[in-house]
Amino acid sequence: MSDELKAKVQAQFGASAEGYATSDIHAKGESLGILLELVKPQPDWLALDVATGAGHTALLFAPHLAHVIASDLTEAMLRKTAELAAARNLTNLETKAADAEELPFDDALFDLVTCRLAFHHFPNPRQALSEFARVLKPGGTLGFTDNITVPDKQAAGYYNAYEKLRDPSHNWVYPLVRLQAMFEKAGLQVEASRQLSKEFEFHKWADRQHVSDADKEKLLEMMRHIPEALNPLFAPRWADGTMYFSLWETVIFAKKGT
Ligand SMILES: C[S@@+](CC[C@H](N)C(=O)[O-])C[C@H]1O[C@@H](n2cnc3c(N)ncnc32)[C@H](O)[C@@H]1O
Repeated sequence: MSDELKAKVQAQFGASAEGYATSDIHAKGESLGILLELVKPQPDWLALDVATGAGHTALLFAPHLAHVIASDLTEAMLRKTAELAAARNLTNLETKAADAEELPFDDALFDLVTCRLAFHHFPNPRQALSEFARVLKPGGTLGFTDNITVPDKQAAGYYNAYEKLRDPSHNWVYPLVRLQAMFEKAGLQVEASRQLSKEFEFHKWADRQHVSDADKEKLLEMMRHIPEALNPLFAPRWADGTMYFSLWETVIFAKKGT
C-alpha cells in the first residue's frame, strides 16, 4: 500500500514539476513568509528540506543558511529545484533523492528540518515525523506547514475524498489537534503555530494535477453538497463562470527536546 502510494506520488509529481515551479501558491504562498519568520534560520545552520517539490522552501531559506539539502522522492522535482538554484546562483543548495519516511542521513545531523505542503502525501506520516526527529540535533528546529481539516470525522473524510479525487497521491489531511499530538509523540515540542486560509480558482487547482473533465464535474458536484461542518473551511463561491474555494493551512514551529 505504501509503495503503491509512493509510485503514484512519482507519477503525479513527475508530470507536474513545471506546474509546481510556477504555481503562485507554492512559489509565493503566505506560509513561506510565516515559516521564515518563525524559524529564524541562522548562517551556521545545516538544513534539510524534505519533499522539496520545485524547491521553493529550500530556495527561500538557502541565503540564510550555511548549507541546505533539498530532498524529494521525485527526480523531476529535484531537477527543477537544481535548475532554479543554479539560476539564482545558490551554490549552498544541493539536491538528493530521499523518501521522507526513510531519510538517508545520520542521526542528529541537522540544525533545521523543513517540510512544507507534503505531509498529506506520506502513507506513514508518524514514521516521517520520527525520521525528522531522528535526523535533527537535540534542540534542533522543525519548520512545518501542511493543509489541515476540521475535527468532525465525517466531514474530514469528505474533505479527504475531495482532495484524493483531484490527486490520487493524496493520503490524508489531519485536523490541527491531531497533528499537534503526533508531533508531541515523536518528541517534537510545538512552540508556535499559525493558521491561514487560501483561496483557489477551481480549474487552475484541478489542472495542476491534470484532472479529467469527468472528475472535474464530480468534484464540482461534491462541492455543491459539502457537509455543514466544511462550510467555514471550503467557503465555496461561484463567480465569473467558475468556482472559488478555500483550503486551510497551518504553519508549525517545533523543537526537538534536548
Ligand atoms: C506539493 S509538493 C511540495 C511543495 C514544496 N515543499 C514547496 O514548499 O513548494 C509535494 C512533494 O512531496 C513529494 N513527496 C511525496 N511523498 C514523498 C515522500 N514519501 N518522500 C519524499 N517526497 C515525497 C512529491 O514528490 C512532491 O514533490
